[in-house]
Amino acid sequence: MRSASATNGHPELLDEFAADVRAGLGGPGQKTLPSRYLYDDLGSALFEAISFLPEYGLTRADERIVRAHAREMAAMLRPPVVVAELGSGSGRKTRWILEALARLKPTVYYPIDISSAALQRCAVELGGLASVRVEPIEDDYLGGLTTVTSQRKTNERLFLLFLGSTIGNFERDKAQEFLGEIRARLLPGDAFLLGTDLVKPPAALLAAYDDPLGVTAAFNLNLLRRLNRELDADFDLALFEHEARWDAAEKRVDMHIVARRAHKARIKALDLVVLFRAGESIWTESSYKYEADEPIRIARRAKFEPAGQWRDLEWPFAESLFIAR
Ligand code: TRP
Repeated sequence: MRSASATNGHPELLDEFAADVRAGLGGPGQKTLPSRYLYDDLGSALFEAISFLPEYGLTRADERIVRAHAREMAAMLRPPVVVAELGSGSGRKTRWILEALARLKPTVYYPIDISSAALQRCAVELGGLASVRVEPIEDDYLGGLTTVTSQRKTNERLFLLFLGSTIGNFERDKAQEFLGEIRARLLPGDAFLLGTDLVKPPAALLAAYDDPLGVTAAFNLNLLRRLNRELDADFDLALFEHEARWDAAEKRVDMHIVARRAHKARIKALDLVVLFRAGESIWTESSYKYEADEPIRIARRAKFEPAGQWRDLEWPFAESLFIAR
């Protein structure tokens, strides 16, 4: 999970944000905005709220599995083990793994996140654990992982965590590619824990991504407020609504911000006028859902050996453990 304004005090990130918004909204085709911009401070707080919604079982399932099986996982890895996590978020789930490892031998934990606010929260949440040293790394996933692997000692095993089904926000071929990039940075014997949300009935998924309280809608629409604030735009939020669509062929939920009627918005910082037809949408994220054997298949192709898989039955979700070949 990401949080805080990615552009806080980083002018080059503001340029990147501006360029992404222009690319996503400036053309004639399907409008899009990258989902990572959902996680400014308010967006991060709203996502945290989403994780408590009864309809959104994903985060709690992820934590239940990790909590129930952390000792079993730790027992499979010969110490010393250092832990790195891609997109650490608050660190709530990781506590169980660190506790299980630290019972056996002191360990180091490298949370990797582009959000300094997320890293700070994570350091507070996990900083008090006995025999765990927390070393936050503010970087993107592969940059941060490269930093960790270049510092590691060869007698240490690396245990890399990629939880929360963030892999589900990659297109399927990009997910495969990403696992290859990860594997290229690991050494044989390193471990990799991958969380994937599983395919479930469309009604359950649609409720998870369009809850009756409207928290998910607020989370998605907050992106327009961010454009208003950071790029001096004038989007009228009352003219938009959140929509989640299940794509049965692609097995993914698509999140859209839909214009209720034809109108235009101005983005002053980009000197751009954006025209909307009635019902036209901005596509903000896709959340791909997996069959339980799929993570194993793609990880095998990336030269990982499956070492275990645990599932939650209440909210179908899989945690798969791999060892780098
Ligand atoms: N990565 C999360 C997921 O796919 C984020 C998320 C939850 C989300 N609800 C959303 C993203 C609504 C956009 C819109 O589950």
